[in-house]
Amino acid sequence: MVEPKFLNRNIVGYESSDLSLDQIQAKARDFYARQAGLFAKILSESWSEYTNISHPAFKNDLDLIRQVKELVSPGAKGLDAGCGPLAREVFCFYQDGYDMYGIDVVPENIQTALEYHPSLAERLFLADLTQPLDFPDNSFDFIISNTVIQHINLNCLTDVTFPELTRILKPGGVIQLMFRSGNGTLTIQDVEFNDQRSFYLYQPEVILEILARHGLSLVPEENGSLGGIIYVTDVRPMENCIFCVRKTPS
Ligand SMILES: C[S@@+](CC[C@H](N)C(=O)[O-])C[C@H]1O[C@@H](n2cnc3c(N)ncnc32)[C@H](O)[C@@H]1O
Repeated sequence: MVEPKFLNRNIVGYESSDLSLDQIQAKARDFYARQAGLFAKILSESWSEYTNISHPAFKNDLDLIRQVKELVSPGAKGLDAGCGPLAREVFCFYQDGYDMYGIDVVPENIQTALEYHPSLAERLFLADLTQPLDFPDNSFDFIISNTVIQHINLNCLTDVTFPELTRILKPGGVIQLMFRSGNGTLTIQDVEFNDQRSFYLYQPEVILEILARHGLSLVPEENGSLGGIIYVTDVRPMENCIFCVRKTPS
């Protein structure tokens, strides 16, 4: 696996968002289309580190990968839903022998990711998580979707995204989610990109309640494992939560 270099990101200034819910979704796509190259460069140079970490065993983004590996079999089939312009996690799992795929709604992201990782040519696809997905039922042993649902409004999540992710997940399969926690929406001035970014903020309990309706339940912490709801603060600083849920085995 690539050795990470840690950067302290320099992002300041934020205010409550007065954008409409649909504008936030659209603006996120515009942002990634404009910034795919820079975003990929930043991701290729560093793994995010966090403060105010609620779990003693969690340190940085590498632990997101470790958390999933502890829950699935070696070589399992996985999907990164919203893989971003580097498809970093797709590449890491693929390199480590997992049958890994990635999807993203922004063509520039897929294109940029393939420039970094040509070996993923048959594994990255353009797809929109607010629309039905073109995968058969029970396709994947695990799905990761990190810092993605903060770009999707609650109606879409409830009516399309979570039902679709559940449909394509095998019984007993695992979904890992990381997202900005809170209520409402937020717009920040991101000086790293010299650009404005807007996010939906969700309480993990609200998301878990929706997932429970689809037969997905929280993977608990057991004997210090990376389970339960983990909270971390990023450098913006914004609070994020991380958890895994498991689909009821058949
Ligand atoms: C902050 S990036 C995270 C990338 C990657 N998951 C990571 O952890 O580095 C958010 C990604 O979600 C993607 N995204 C946002 N809305 C989406 C949607 N409706 N369908 C698919 N991908 C979406 C964006 O294009 C972007 O690549």
